[in-house]
Amino acid sequence: MTPAASGLGARTLDHVGVAVFDLDDGSVPWTRLGLTPTGGADAEVPEQGVRVRFVQAGPVALELLAPTDGDGAIARFLARRGPGVHHLAFRVADLSDELARLRREGVDPIDPAGRPGHGGHRVAFLHPRSCGGVLVELVERRP
Ligand code: CO
Repeated sequence: MTPAASGLGARTLDHVGVAVFDLDDGSVPWTRLGLTPTGGADAEVPEQGVRVRFVQAGPVALELLAPTDGDGAIARFLARRGPGVHHLAFRVADLSDELARLRREGVDPIDPAGRPGHGGHRVAFLHPRSCGGVLVELVERRP
């Protein structure tokens, strides 16, 4: 079933996750390009073993991710590939509904039940093998 046939609206890109060794050093290329930090304090996401900082690029943000846990996914990504694009994140209205729908379509979720994300939002990652080789995050924004 195509997204149009399923009645889904257009998907909004919420942010692009970029793995960095250090948030200050990792911000430099982006501020040099004219992107601006969103002004909020850097946030710890202990569930993911990262500290994050957002820089805004129009309606989309870059989520800079620096490891706080040497065994976490971002630390392993950096060890394997160095800094760079880590994931694309799309907004969904209801994470549970969307995960159920995607499972019916054969998509392989890394987080079948979702998990806590930055800012108290609910997130779930989908396996790159289901998404053209790209790690995809779904974000249900909580007020
Ligand atoms: Co993200």
